[in-house]
Amino acid sequence: MKRNLITAALPYANGPLHIGHIAGCYLPADIYSRFLRNKGEEVLFVCGTDEHGVAITMRAKKEGITPQQVVDKYYNQISESFKTFGISFDHFSRTSREIHHKTAQEFFKKLYDKGLFQEIETDQYYDEEAQQFLADRYILGTCPVCSNENAYGDQCEKCGSALSPTDLKNPRSALSGAAPVLRKATNWFLPMDKIAETPEFAEYSKRVENWRGTVKGQFKSWLKEGLQPRAMTRDLDWGIPVPVDGADGKVLYVWFDAPIGYISATKEYFEEQGNPEGWKRWWQDDESQLIHFIGKDNIVFHTIIFPMMLMEHGDYILPAEVPANEFLNLEGQKLSTSRNWAVWLHEYLSAFPGRNDEMRYTLTSIAPETKDSDFTWKDYQLKVNSELVAVLGNFVNRAMVLCKKYFDGKVPANFGANTEHEAYRKRAQEMIDSSERISQYVNELLASYKFRDAQSEWLNLAREGNRFLAETEPWKLWKTDPKAVEGILHETLNLCARIAAIGEPFVPETSQRILQQLNLAGKHADIAANWNQVEEGANLGEPFLLFTQIEDAVIQEQIDKLAAESAASNAPKQEENMLAPQKDTIQYDDFMKMDIRVGTILEAIKVPKADKLLQLTVDTGIDVRTIVSGIAEHFAPEDIVGQQVSVLVNLAPRKLRGIESQGMILMAESEGKLMFVQPGEKAVNGSGVS
Ligand code: MF3
Ligand code: ZN
Repeated sequence: MKRNLITAALPYANGPLHIGHIAGCYLPADIYSRFLRNKGEEVLFVCGTDEHGVAITMRAKKEGITPQQVVDKYYNQISESFKTFGISFDHFSRTSREIHHKTAQEFFKKLYDKGLFQEIETDQYYDEEAQQFLADRYILGTCPVCSNENAYGDQCEKCGSALSPTDLKNPRSALSGAAPVLRKATNWFLPMDKIAETPEFAEYSKRVENWRGTVKGQFKSWLKEGLQPRAMTRDLDWGIPVPVDGADGKVLYVWFDAPIGYISATKEYFEEQGNPEGWKRWWQDDESQLIHFIGKDNIVFHTIIFPMMLMEHGDYILPAEVPANEFLNLEGQKLSTSRNWAVWLHEYLSAFPGRNDEMRYTLTSIAPETKDSDFTWKDYQLKVNSELVAVLGNFVNRAMVLCKKYFDGKVPANFGANTEHEAYRKRAQEMIDSSERISQYVNELLASYKFRDAQSEWLNLAREGNRFLAETEPWKLWKTDPKAVEGILHETLNLCARIAAIGEPFVPETSQRILQQLNLAGKHADIAANWNQVEEGANLGEPFLLFTQIEDAVIQEQIDKLAAESAASNAPKQEENMLAPQKDTIQYDDFMKMDIRVGTILEAIKVPKADKLLQLTVDTGIDVRTIVSGIAEHFAPEDIVGQQVSVLVNLAPRKLRGIESQGMILMAESEGKLMFVQPGEKAVNGSGVS
């Protein structure tokens, strides 16, 4: 019996899950785990949240909360959503746990003690304003490959190139927007160039030959470009402290610690089972196969860096397969958290309760296995209505209702041994043979990670069933040859059982609903192998519909919601990194110190010899005063006289070009355009804004 250690990429605990994450790795990993469990193989399916790195601290800045609050919030939300959606992890952990810190530190220490790391002093970007080193996503700039102006210090998301901060042209800090300076810092580097030359690595590389095209392609192109030593530590304060002397203020690189999370999760699982050594069988024994499900942006980490770490450590097995998916788009556009262009899993779960399988089915039917694919709500509706309702639901329901009607809800007898119903018996045998062939094929496709094709082949079982009923017409035959109807429906019920058993990995809840109607609940794993499952005279459950139609209005609501929310997020299209990160938290009292009033602009004149400045005379309700405002390039003076604006009236006066400015006009800036912040309707001058 094979032992399969299945992992799905640890999601960053920095935001909710969306359908792109699900389609990318969690759903395929879940399908594969269920498939192997049903076959009777040993499976351990582990995951957890990735809680370190800049992804977390950036989010904390944005939300104005601490990194710890960020990871607690999203760990809870993510693990809840997975549970409700039915992803069948054996264990879901988090990298902030003690056991993980310890495991990651020991791992680092072992490599350190054997002298593997190169200690290198390099120039690191430093933000003088924020007083912080800028690693990875803290730094933005122009991609040297494709000129994308919003490339990150570790990667350009537009062209996929892996980058170092110093590769970026016009670097800027994601914290302050300022141009960073270079400062020297010492870090520990994994000598990837040297490891790539070892016989162990050459041996490992042979496995990659059999992996998916994109995975193999990326693997080879990394090697071809030549690997560089890569820093495994960072000058940051959020993460796992580097466990060696002289490493104060340094933490492990998040991509060093996160994949070790797979190991810690396994350890934690076995500790909870009261078998603290149990994890070793899974990680340190060649009988065990390690399979990483990931999205394509994680390929290098899972096919090169983590295997190198495991190899150099020496106690661990290496990945046997790394099935990586491409990306899922939404309604023709890239999914984006900052633009709020996403279908969030938790929102789907509450808007469509009990419809997990409808989403699973749709996502698998468009699984981005070989190229990017597109989710549209219309397509979701079409697949539910014309495949799940019309093909699968309809078939099972017809079988159940006919048995209830003719046989009082009991399983009818199979064809007898005599030759009386030769034609029907033959037709039934054809259906059985073809169903066996299809089942076989589904299993082969699943075994080779072709989930999309496997599912579409599986639905052919229901098509086969509908054809069988349409050709034998038991509802007509009932009057002339009720004995034949018994045999026909007996085999029809066997087909229903087969559909449930083979389909369990794709639509586990539907599978149980079918088995419940057949009175075989919970038996999906036992019944896949044999055709004969139903017994003459056994009671069936009550028939009920597996699926219901999705109406246009329901879909329209989702489409409208998507548009409304992405418009409300008002981040400029595509330029998603341009918004300034949220400023530091202030207290309520700080805010209350500001006295903001509605005022009316009475006069506006250009300030001589200053291109940007307008001198405004404003009625603030309290008084009439002069305010100098840097808006001359955006507004003609004559256009703004008479407009109501918001004025910060208790700002300390200051002189601009010799004119004393007594306050400030509040402006909104949207994609470079300036607008006044105005009351929605005419207000009395002096009205407070708070
Ligand atoms: N958190 C990473 C991401 O979302 C994935 C980490 S996978 C692991 O891209 F191997 F590092 F755990
Ligand atoms: Zn690029």
